[in-house]
Amino acid sequence: MAVPYRPRRLRTTPVMRAMVAETSVEPRRLIHPAFVAEGLTEPRPISSLPGQSQQTLDGIRRDAEECAELGLAGIMLFGVPLAKDATGSGALAEDGILNQATAAVKDAVGDDLLVMTDVCLDEFTDHGHCGVLAADGSVDNDPTVEIYARMAVMHADRGAHVVAPSGMMDGQVGAIRAALDDAGHQDVAIMAYSAKYASAFFGPFREAVGSSLKGDRKTYQQDPANAREAMVEVELDLAEGADIVMVKPALPYLDILRQVRDAVNVPVAAYNVSGEYAMVEAAAEKGWIDRERTVREILTSIRRAGADTILSYWARDFARWERAGH
Ligand code: PBG
Repeated sequence: MAVPYRPRRLRTTPVMRAMVAETSVEPRRLIHPAFVAEGLTEPRPISSLPGQSQQTLDGIRRDAEECAELGLAGIMLFGVPLAKDATGSGALAEDGILNQATAAVKDAVGDDLLVMTDVCLDEFTDHGHCGVLAADGSVDNDPTVEIYARMAVMHADRGAHVVAPSGMMDGQVGAIRAALDDAGHQDVAIMAYSAKYASAFFGPFREAVGSSLKGDRKTYQQDPANAREAMVEVELDLAEGADIVMVKPALPYLDILRQVRDAVNVPVAAYNVSGEYAMVEAAAEKGWIDRERTVREILTSIRRAGADTILSYWARDFARWERAGH
């Protein structure tokens, strides 16, 4: 049969396929999201995120050392305080859990792993919103941004390499950049959660941080229907001084990731969120899906769509598989 061109020739052997592969995933592209809870004496498993736990301060040091040893890029720290209140005051306490964790992890890994912090209030507020509330119950933008700026400086003081504002407040990146510079932290980078959607895929995360959110985040996170709006957010964050821009979640928004990648010249991050992890873990546990193949395909697709770096609860597993020669 005369077939003018046979693409199958380039798929004949593993070495051939490896040679022509357009996209790769490496541990140095991956960031491990980690939860540290105040007052814990041993790790507390998060049932909706099988394999992930809230960590003790000692535990998070060891986890960070392992991440460094596995060759990951970074660890993203989320703090879970014992007591939550209306203003999230635990976020600004000198010995607050996220501040302590940042210092402990930096002490453990130095510059061998990027120490990153989530700059947001939802882990710290009793109402579960990402900011403080105005008298009418709405999330009050400008006072919230002032708190974020102070949080970011506290994290930088304790050695964070990267701060990551995730609250989707207007002007948050500019305020944090100014505060960091004022405090002498010109070299601390901002990874902005620029295009963050009001997503059902954050469900398991709420358990992970013990969030009691009633209602939703639709007045500050983006509508899943919108793509152009994401570009506005990205442009603003860059104008305000973001070093890295993020799209979150990843899988339902690969089109956004591609648009952002094509539009900007800074690194682009994607957050492969808790619900994306939980879906696969649940199906794999039932034997309905091959876990490792699925995870590799997901991480590859996120890279192919344009992410330079990926936050994923599978970061450590992926690096372990690579090490084991899978
Ligand atoms: C906010 C924040 C959230 C996540 C990361 N940072 C929760 C939210 O915005 O509702 C979700 C991450 C995930 O689902 O894995 N601090």
